[in-house]
Amino acid sequence: MLKGKRILLIVAGGIAAFKVHELIRLLRKQDAAVRCVLTETGARFVTPLSLQALTEDKVYSDMFSLTDESEMGHIQLSRDADLLVVAPATANILARMAGGLADDLASTVLLATDKPVLVAPAMNVRMWSHAATQANVEILTKRGIEFVGPNDGAMACNEFGPGRMSEPAEIVAAIESLLTVERPLAGRRALVTSGPTREAIDPVRYISNHSSGKQGHAIAAALAQLGAEVTLVSGPVAVPDPAGVTVVKIESADQMLAACLAAGAVDVAVCAAAVADWKMATPATAKIKKKAGAAPPALELTPNPDILATLSKAGPKRPRLVVGFAAETENLIANAVDKRTRKGCDWIVANDVSPATGTFGGDRNTVHLISAEGVQHWPTLSKERVAMQLAGAIALHLTRPRPAEAAE
Ligand code: PMT
Repeated sequence: MLKGKRILLIVAGGIAAFKVHELIRLLRKQDAAVRCVLTETGARFVTPLSLQALTEDKVYSDMFSLTDESEMGHIQLSRDADLLVVAPATANILARMAGGLADDLASTVLLATDKPVLVAPAMNVRMWSHAATQANVEILTKRGIEFVGPNDGAMACNEFGPGRMSEPAEIVAAIESLLTVERPLAGRRALVTSGPTREAIDPVRYISNHSSGKQGHAIAAALAQLGAEVTLVSGPVAVPDPAGVTVVKIESADQMLAACLAAGAVDVAVCAAAVADWKMATPATAKIKKKAGAAPPALELTPNPDILATLSKAGPKRPRLVVGFAAETENLIANAVDKRTRKGCDWIVANDVSPATGTFGGDRNTVHLISAEGVQHWPTLSKERVAMQLAGAIALHLTRPRPAEAAE
């Protein structure tokens, strides 16, 4: 998918720099052209010679090299690429990017570029969580810089937590999702649920929630963009139907489940809907009247069917990949990990929906992708970018040979 694409890889100084060798190898395997800019500190971890050997191209380091500038000026270097990738991206280079510094070749190239930039952070967990780094990440995200990772895990400094650089294959997937013009999901079928459900109390009142459908609809659009045939089962929302998607409109959780089952066999199901957990045991058939002096009516509730769990446990009809969302207001990761196990889905996307986050109805989302492999912490992104990144990960998963096929 990356054949002929030109990647300018900026290698900064961190222990994770050892992973760039594998990253270059994977990119070259796909016939992408890789050219490296190595920072002064990066050169303490990897040698120009190893990068040159793997890229089969010159490695650029010196801002004031007479020969480099005559062969390839820094402006040209920044423009002569389809994508700039910073890996590993240290706290220092993120700060310099956010501050607009141009005090070495890497930062100058990053300031001069008009091309998309993907950043793979790698640093100590405390450096990543520091307010200064998080503020820089926010600034860069607002400017449209794309992030992949960092992941959770054990670090070289013997600490554990977010800060590990994404694995080379994950970085390649992010690069593909940014550069792809192909349709890796062509021929695949996807089911997406979106929006709230409404559970009738009586003919005029209902139980519901604040979901706007923005996130679920964006996921349906992103999957369709990658070529999937998408059925979107949506609760009542004000957002427009995504182009090129079959939309089934429902109100209640029972109707959502029926529509999902009627969609037939799919390769992937993404349950982004905020389904009401409970419905009225027996909705009133006439408007419940307010009687003067009488106590408010007691509403007898009963659980709704769990659509995500039903799809996850559908036996031979189970989609190859089932992705749930976990909307939490406390103990986000622990609750989401538990939910993934209880509901039996493959991946769960955890998001904090505390009112202060503005996730419900807002345009941005901060999510954490949890799978059997661990937790990926994504930075705050627009809901469209969350959708594209998730669709890219889904495409990578579905186009990978299954273990049985790989063994053949
Ligand atoms: O719509 P937006 O305003 O853009 O907001 C997006 C969002 C916050 C709604 C979305 O990102 C999100 O988090 N969706 C899941 C909301 C939710 O109901 O989470 P939950 O933790 O209660 O449910 C866990 C999972 O089970 C979800 O995948 C949900 O779709 C599913 N579920 C829940 C109950 C039920 N009866 N059936 C289900 O399928």
